[in-house]
Formats: sequence, structure tokens, C-alpha cells
Amino acid sequence: MMGRNPSSMTGSDRKRYSLHARRPIRLMRKSSMTRAKSTRPRIAVGLCGASGAQYGVELLRALAEREVETHLIVSRWADAVMRTETDTTLAELEDLAEVTHDNHDMAASLSSSSFLVDGMVIIPASVKTVAEIAGGSAGTLIARAADNMLKTRRRLIVCIRETPISLPCIENLRTIMLAGGIVAPLSPGFYHRPADLSDLYAFMVGKVLDMLYIENSQFRRWGE
Ligand SMILES: Cc1cc2nc3c(=O)[nH]c(=O)nc-3n(C[C@H](O)[C@H](O)[C@H](O)COP(=O)(O)O)c2cc1C
Repeated sequence: MMGRNPSSMTGSDRKRYSLHARRPIRLMRKSSMTRAKSTRPRIAVGLCGASGAQYGVELLRALAEREVETHLIVSRWADAVMRTETDTTLAELEDLAEVTHDNHDMAASLSSSSFLVDGMVIIPASVKTVAEIAGGSAGTLIARAADNMLKTRRRLIVCIRETPISLPCIENLRTIMLAGGIVAPLSPGFYHRPADLSDLYAFMVGKVLDMLYIENSQFRRWGE
């Protein structure tokens, strides 16, 4: 599915997609989400070479279950970390997305802010890509797509995974926040009494879906 335009999907692709679309999505559109209401939300997901690859896998699974046009970018080191930490192959991951882009393909649709995207999530985000976004160098497709989100004031959610965090990294996160991005460290809560790892993934994925205005009941909310 590398670099394939959704409009060129085959019938079997659509069938596969509709199988995923078990639950209708209700997207509460904000002023930053300016694509036509009739279109499915288009969400970009970037995976970096930080620990916590399974969070990215779980988010893609959750998006695949909904009426979302998901665009995936996997960095070289994300692929390496995924092989270390998970049983999911790159091919299986790509199968969860509607379109997959090469992180070095600067001619990809996501490279241009004229290609409208409702939101972008970088999960997990590495210290290195955080620095690239904060510096505005846009040297990879993940960093460039993120820069497009910031400059057009669209949703950018940066799920960093690092501890402890250096002052330069904190400054970079601060810069991203000041530019309009959301910094959402991969730091799940425990008040829902997680029974296993899947509960922790569900918590973080639910929080990310909330930030994308995608209704979900991934986790038990406080007070419910
Ligand atoms: C097994 C493994 C775990 C890593 N974990 C982290 C991490 O948690 N956070 C981080 O910022 N970098 C981590 N790194 C280092 C990044 O992979 C490295 O900085 C890489 O250049 C990131 O590039 P990318 O952002 O383009 O994926 C890890 C590397 C390996 C091999």
C-alpha cells in the first residue's frame, strides 16, 4: 500500500476497510479541522524509533476499526524497535493503515500542507524527531508533516517516550507546545486499575483518540 492514493483503492481494499469500520465515528470538528464534513477524517500517524512501539500498533488498530483514512509513516529505527519489542511485522502494521509513506519521500502527499490532514499523532516520538520538529528543519517526512500541522494550526500530538528528559529536550517540547502542538508523554495513569499491559495501551490510545475528537470507550474514565 506504499504511497497509494485512497481514491485508487480496489474493491477488495474497500471491503477490507469496511470490515474494519465496525463502529461509526463521530468527529467533533473544531475550527482547526477544515475538511468537508462529508469526508472521513484523515489522520497521519508517525512511528519513531523510541521504545513503546506497541502503543503505535494499538493506535493503528483503533483507527482501523473506525471510519478514518489513516496515513502511516514508520522511521527506520521505529521498524528496528518494533522488531525488538513486538511480534508485529512492518507488513502487518502497514496493513492497518490506508496509505503508507516512506519517511524519506519528500514527494509524498503528506509533504505538502495543501494535502489536508485533520490530525497527526507521533507515537512513540523520539527525542531526535522532537528536536527536528522544534528546529523546523523538516528533514524527514514525519518532521515535515508535523511542521505542516504546526504552520496550519492543525492538531499535532507528540507522544514522547524518554526518561529522564534533558533540558534541551524539554526546551524542544516547549517550542512545539508554543507552536500549537500537544505534548502527550507515554505515561499512562493507574487509577483505572490496569490488569495487564493491554489496559495501559488502551488508556493511552483512548487519550489520543480524545485529543483527535474521536469518540471512544477505550478506557474507564474517572467518575464513570
Ligand atoms: C531498542 C531501542 C530503544 C530506543 N528507545 C528510545 C527511546 O525510548 N526514546 C528515544 O528518544 N530514543 C530511543 N532510541 C534511539 C532512537 O531510535 C534514535 O535516536 C533514532 O535516531 C531515532 O530516529 P527517528 O526519530 O527517526 O526514529 C532507541 C533505540 C533503540 C535501538
